[in-house]
Amino acid sequence: MSEQIKPFSSLLPKEPQVRRMFDDIAWRYDLLNRILSLRKDIYWRRVLVNEVLHLRPTCLLDVATGTGDLAWAFARACVPEVVGIDISKKMLEKACARFVKGVKPPQFVEGSAMALPFKDDSFDVVTAAFGVRNFENIALGLREMHRVTRPGGSLFVLEFSRPASPLWRKVIDIYNRFVVPGLGACLARNYEAYKYLYESVAAFPSGAAFCRILEDNGWREVILRPLSHGVVTLYRAIK
Ligand SMILES: C[S@@+](CC[C@H](N)C(=O)[O-])C[C@H]1O[C@@H](n2cnc3c(N)ncnc32)[C@H](O)[C@@H]1O
Repeated sequence: MSEQIKPFSSLLPKEPQVRRMFDDIAWRYDLLNRILSLRKDIYWRRVLVNEVLHLRPTCLLDVATGTGDLAWAFARACVPEVVGIDISKKMLEKACARFVKGVKPPQFVEGSAMALPFKDDSFDVVTAAFGVRNFENIALGLREMHRVTRPGGSLFVLEFSRPASPLWRKVIDIYNRFVVPGLGACLARNYEAYKYLYESVAAFPSGAAFCRILEDNGWREVILRPLSHGVVTLYRAIK
């Protein structure tokens, strides 16, 4: 399980290590994302944004918002209230430094998905892109997101997954295992962070296994949509 995969030490708690790791790579995070995913990350987030916009949310929370890609996309699409939360101060500084003329900026909050600082039933939609894999306790994070979603509201999770095709799975595995940490070392001067990326993706319970975890933590009508031959999966669930 990805909860046991930690960036630096297997003996210490995960959350402070994850925070430190993202603080360290924040300066290069967006560039590395574009390069390592061959710009596919933009497409993956766009699919999520389009699905969310069909629901016409008025109040949306983006958990593990990072540098704010999703939060800003919803703000640009005129979602009236957008809140982004993250544990990494440096990632949030990047998110706050963005500016889009004529767009009401999202509200960015420093805090953890393990104890969301919001009232019950506050949001129409909660999103999390490439964040859940990093949680210290995935079940607790999913329950917290459930608590702050209004009844009938939706959760959208985007996460890496394992392609169904054995050949494609092998190609992606080799890429993640050898190319990703190498590029991370060259471009972000951080081999550990990108080795952790490979290890945490390999250990994450994706596909049907993650759907079951969602259901076990209160979510219903869970559906999944594999993207790019299953390299990434978009999950949608309802409270
Ligand atoms: C891979 S980045 C994804 C950022 C952004 N959602 C995106 O799509 O680019 C993962 C983010 O999750 C954040 N994170 C990890 N654990 C968290 C937690 N327990 N609560 C809030 N944010 C967390 C990290 O600080 C990091 O910014």
